[in-house]
Amino acid sequence: MNRLVLGAQWGDEGKGKIVDILSEDADVIVRYQGGSNAGHTVCIEDKKYILHLIPSGILHKDKICVIGNGVVIDPASFLEEKRALEELSVNIENRLMISEKAHLVMPYHKVLDEIKELQLGDGKIGTTKKGIGPCYVDKYNRVGIRVCDLLSNDILKDKIHTNVEQVNKLCDLYKIERFDADKIFKQYKEYAYELKDYIRNTVYYLNGVVKNGKSVLFEGAQGSLLDVDFGTYPYVTSSSPTVGGAFTGTGLSYKALNNVVGVMKAYATRVGNGPFPSELTGETGEEIRQKGAEFGATTGRPRRCGWLDLVAVKYAVMLSGIEDIALTKLDVLDEMEDVKVCVGYEYEGRKIGYIPSQLEEFAKCQPVYKTFKGWNKTNDISQYSDLPKEARMYIEYIENFLGVRISIISTGAKREETIIR
Ligand code: GDP
Ligand code: IMO
Ligand code: MG
Repeated sequence: MNRLVLGAQWGDEGKGKIVDILSEDADVIVRYQGGSNAGHTVCIEDKKYILHLIPSGILHKDKICVIGNGVVIDPASFLEEKRALEELSVNIENRLMISEKAHLVMPYHKVLDEIKELQLGDGKIGTTKKGIGPCYVDKYNRVGIRVCDLLSNDILKDKIHTNVEQVNKLCDLYKIERFDADKIFKQYKEYAYELKDYIRNTVYYLNGVVKNGKSVLFEGAQGSLLDVDFGTYPYVTSSSPTVGGAFTGTGLSYKALNNVVGVMKAYATRVGNGPFPSELTGETGEEIRQKGAEFGATTGRPRRCGWLDLVAVKYAVMLSGIEDIALTKLDVLDEMEDVKVCVGYEYEGRKIGYIPSQLEEFAKCQPVYKTFKGWNKTNDISQYSDLPKEARMYIEYIENFLGVRISIISTGAKREETIIR
């Protein structure tokens, strides 16, 4: 059984925790898009691990993890993550592979990311400033530097010099300090030395894994509403977290995929800018932020919080063929008097049940809510039938609305705080 776990909202749905649980049944776990903009948290016993580039499956000591070709890799971030894992007694040696086709995030990508945001002023995206957008721009502009380029000094040097020459023209334009190509080359040669043992043709490797009847778990980063094609463009990330990204980002075909799991919080959050119709800007939003510890795992920014938006999730279900939902952070809504879900939007006096493509239209959409009576406590419960009746009503309403089963319910950050139905 090859599964895909992806975010059904705006990211930070709890994918790390769900991937950690589902990794148990997989042989190989592969990341297919995004980069170190992701922050996937896994809590095991009293330890907290935050993964950015390395698949969350790495915490299972007998699993192989792959950083697929669709991911953009910042070597500095990778090495820092490797060291942080080692400090927590997690060794990645001999069980991590990096695709030779993956693109490298370069120092100038991070600076260009910052400059672009500054230029946008109030209209800024609110990126993580990890250089993700500019790196994918180079990829699609066919001037990117790939992991395999690290293996040849001549090629690496040549590409860095060519790119830096172009970037420095922009630096002059923006009146910022120029980049030194030789210095970057020297730095990346050192990275090459540290990375070389991980570099593989993961496309052939992964296809071999599937052919030999072993199972693969695809780990999505970000979320469906941040997808560059289907999200709230331009307030999106620069990759495809939805199902298509899993194929282009690994080299596995659609035939290799048997099940798509969408991870969805019991409410909604968004980091960065862009429309968010069910956002709660007052006290309730603050209460959710505090109870849910909704602060970014990558940037530490407070996350915007709101009620669950079922129109958005239903769209994500449609886009990726989600068959199962993992509902997370149900416990955060414990003890609330009532709980709302957005079941439609009101746009210019009309009720609509879809997400308009034009941002200006979406920004004007007002949420239409259905209100549920709150419940007491969901934490420490291991059987679905033992959940408070009100919580079950909430869950079953969502299942009916989405037409998808909710097969995993998470009521706390730890592995054991999970109900499998
Ligand atoms: P990801 O990016 O989708 O992996 O999600 P993040 O790790 O950025 O954010 C999810 C946060 O919620 C992390 O701090 C998790 O430890 C935590 N978490 C996951 N599931 C639950 C849950 O069911 N209840 C609570 N209270 N916290 C959870
Ligand atoms: P995980 O995998 C939530 C958001 C940023 C910004 C937009 C573009 O942990 O769910 P980028 O740096 O990608 O160019 O920023 O996307 N964003 C995320 N939001 N979770 C993430 O990852 C995100 N990765 C990027 O906040 O709004
Ligand atoms: Mg996250």
